Amino acid sequence: MERTLLEVRDLEIHFKAENGVSKAVDGVSLQILAGEAFGLVGESGCGKSVTALSLLKLLPSPPAILAGGEVIWEERNLWQLPHEELIKIRGKEIGLIFQEPMTSFNPVHKIGRQICEVLEMHTSWPPQEIRRRALEMLHRVGIHDPQRCFNAYPHELSGGMRQRAMIAMALICRPQLVVADEPTTALDVTIQAQILDLLKELQQAEGMSILLITHNLGIITEIAHRVAVMYLGKIVELAKVRDLLVNPLHPYTQGLLSSIPRLDREEALQAIPGMAPDFLHLPAGCYFAPRCSRATERCHQEYPLTREVSPGHTVACWLY
Ligand SMILES: Nc1ncnc2c1ncn2[C@@H]1O[C@H](COP(=O)(O)OP(=O)(O)OP(=O)(O)O)[C@@H](O)[C@H]1O
Ligand SMILES: [Mg+2]
Repeated sequence: MERTLLEVRDLEIHFKAENGVSKAVDGVSLQILAGEAFGLVGESGCGKSVTALSLLKLLPSPPAILAGGEVIWEERNLWQLPHEELIKIRGKEIGLIFQEPMTSFNPVHKIGRQICEVLEMHTSWPPQEIRRRALEMLHRVGIHDPQRCFNAYPHELSGGMRQRAMIAMALICRPQLVVADEPTTALDVTIQAQILDLLKELQQAEGMSILLITHNLGIITEIAHRVAVMYLGKIVELAKVRDLLVNPLHPYTQGLLSSIPRLDREEALQAIPGMAPDFLHLPAGCYFAPRCSRATERCHQEYPLTREVSPGHTVACWLY
């Protein structure tokens, strides 16, 4: 019953720096099932966006090097596809939503034009039909005056409206998967909540899958079915959201969870002590060991193997 839509196997993405090579993504594997909301969470710089952008080969290369791994989409190996084939998948089968719609919309074209262009590229529908669909989609994402939005330039909309329009553009071809990279980070808190509700509602109504990327574990727990926790280019824990909340295994995950604000808890938030090392100065053993209060001798010497501790719940930590 559970069909895998996207399979990422052993992704290795490197950046060449003056003083070495940084492995921004180092052996990431995950699967996204049809109809599933999958969350990818981790601190700034851990490799979330690089992972997301690499799926459809959207990373500028150089400096990025796709050093290893496979991305399988509906039985097609995306990295091996000719460019023309990949372009047909982008926007049609896989939609993309980014943090700052100002960078995704072209500032010199009206919103409606840009949404119509996506449909023009992927369908051969007549212009009136394309326009009708674009207006309908703007309405669908909660824009009350679709006509006005259609005729507006990106800078004429508020941040929240722009993000809704961005979502409309990402969903206009009814993709099977939407990759949403920090879709609400640039917005204020009430608008954030509205956009998240919208995404959740659309995901459920359309039965599409979503890869939701954020540094905010609280947001993931609202929307996602499963979640992968990333630390310095590696997935350290992967589980159903419920299992992760009830029984977080990795000390890093435990730290992330205790730093989510909760209304029913009085005590001060516990930030994870210390700073993540940078990619050019990784420790010999577990990358989290220098910040981990439970680290043993072994943790400082050997990177832990990933183990399945209970069905569907994996962790890379020597404690298990
Ligand atoms: N254009 C680039 N040139 C060199 N290194 C890069 C480039 N883009 C990303 N990196 C490296 O890849 C690492 C991962 O970056 P990425 O943008 O994926 O982080 P992120 O998890 O999305 O962080 P954030 O939460 O801040 O968005 C960075 O720490 C950086 O070292
Ligand atoms: Mg990012």
